[in-house]
Amino acid sequence: MSIETYVKSNLVAATANAAPSSSAASSRLAEDLKEKAATVDSSHFLDWRKRPQEIEDKIERVFRTISQKSDSKWLYNGASEYLMLEIREHSLIKAKIKQSTNQKDFYVLDIGAGAFQWGRSLAEFINKQDDLPKDITVSVIGIRGEGGLERQENAGKCRIYEFTAFKVENLFTEFKKRGLYLENKLDLVISRWSFRHLVDPLGTFIQTYNLLRPETGLLLMDGFCFFDKDDTWKTYLDYVRKINDDSVSDPFVVYLITLLVKTKAPFLLQPWTSSGSLWRFILRKPNDAPCQLEMSYKGLEYGCQDIQIESECITKFDIGKERYDINREESWTIRTADLYGDESLYNWLRKNELFANDFYGKKMKWVKREIQKL
Ligand SMILES: C[S@@+](CC[C@H](N)C(=O)[O-])C[C@H]1O[C@@H](n2cnc3c(N)ncnc32)[C@H](O)[C@@H]1O
Repeated sequence: MSIETYVKSNLVAATANAAPSSSAASSRLAEDLKEKAATVDSSHFLDWRKRPQEIEDKIERVFRTISQKSDSKWLYNGASEYLMLEIREHSLIKAKIKQSTNQKDFYVLDIGAGAFQWGRSLAEFINKQDDLPKDITVSVIGIRGEGGLERQENAGKCRIYEFTAFKVENLFTEFKKRGLYLENKLDLVISRWSFRHLVDPLGTFIQTYNLLRPETGLLLMDGFCFFDKDDTWKTYLDYVRKINDDSVSDPFVVYLITLLVKTKAPFLLQPWTSSGSLWRFILRKPNDAPCQLEMSYKGLEYGCQDIQIESECITKFDIGKERYDINREESWTIRTADLYGDESLYNWLRKNELFANDFYGKKMKWVKREIQKL
């Protein structure tokens, strides 16, 4: 099945529930993906275990600096809820628990958890809900690069994990070191203002995706920057200076949409213009196929002083020839309250009343716009 067909089927999927755990279509999709995985040489796929030494060294240097800090002191350093896409994440977990009647263990992860407020307030919220089953356990896991005290404690229905000096870019290894085996287990991963600071956001994205629970696992996060193989900071800025209306896309937006399309997962996008390029999205892992991106590492680009990136570099990837973007042909105004992409995901969120208050007086709404190949 071609990527175009996947995109079409993701966008046209008309089921009202975002978690069609046993639909024939989704198992067919899983079979297709397995078949494809079996026939494609895996050396074409981006593999974080085979990063070039230059990138591995840079990750190590950035990590050494951050992990020597004893506390986390960012401008944004955690909140009780992040409200990306205006989604009330606590209620989202509750809705998932209520709909997964046969599941007793739930796992939630905050990547770049700052001072761990998000996880703590989620645990408080869960423990106040009288209408949840008594016999569930919600593992609420927060990870951050800074050092400080690690904590693990039981709190009512929740088991709270707060991991510090955690090398986010090696998620799998770091969890294993701490005795957690989370592959295909996470019901929700959330991350805000974090991936943008990483040296290898793509390799980390792949690992994160693979931790999600097949069919129902959700990833809710803001975008991050990466370059294509021939990009330099200068060519990027030259391009951005030419953008004078909303009909032209920032390359970072196009790369992000291209990445999402290549995952073959259904996703919903929220334009986020206040910081330029960091659109937000929610994605559902449709099956147990691992995230396989036909991309490769190409090196590091320094000198990105105009965007706040802690690592002070942007990693270059050969992202392949295809590019995807939202159709911008008709009259187009970017509105933060408009959501694009998978309508069934939107319907599920709306049906479960998961959108917070209106956004600057506007109700979050799904807007029909094709995601097309450029
Ligand atoms: C700006 S704070 C965001 C905190 C919170 N997510 C929020 O939105 O308020 C950035 C977070 O990313 C984590 N982070 C940034 N770079 C990192 C790295 N190289 N390794 C591990 N964690 C990193 C920090 O530990 C911190 O928790």
